[in-house]
Amino acid sequence: MAIENTLSIIKPDATDRNLTGAINSKLEKAGLKIIAQKRLKLSREMAQKFYEVHKDRPFYNDLVDFMISGPVVVQVLSGENAVMLNREVMGATNPSEAKDGTIRKEFALSIEANSVHGSDSLENAKNEISFFFSSIEIV
Ligand code: CMP
Repeated sequence: MAIENTLSIIKPDATDRNLTGAINSKLEKAGLKIIAQKRLKLSREMAQKFYEVHKDRPFYNDLVDFMISGPVVVQVLSGENAVMLNREVMGATNPSEAKDGTIRKEFALSIEANSVHGSDSLENAKNEISFFFSSIEIV
């Protein structure tokens, strides 16, 4: 299997509860390497652009409001099959459907405040990584 990079976001509900380290520990224990990471507060424009694919969904405005409600930690994760591996470690979008041991099962509060985002395909991973990081920040 190929080494892939994927984008991960630790969302405001998780940074607010001081869960960055606990989430990073789960990622690293699963074999994902954090090869870039920064904490920032998204502007409304950035959040709208990042989630543009959902702009016609009924939850879009609430999702944008939530993502700018506090700091996020954006990260690039690397490893074999990293896109799908990260999605397994994250668990289902809705925490009530997430499997035991996953990040969302353990930490998420709701489908919106679900603690983490992860790219859903290799193509989206490339676009999402370049949305937040320049090549010299990824080592
Ligand atoms: P994420 O992986 O960041 O991608 C889009 C986000 O929209 C998703 O996680 C959820 O947190 C959020 N969201 C809010 N409501 C819904 C919903 N009804 N269905 C899917 N995603 C939702």
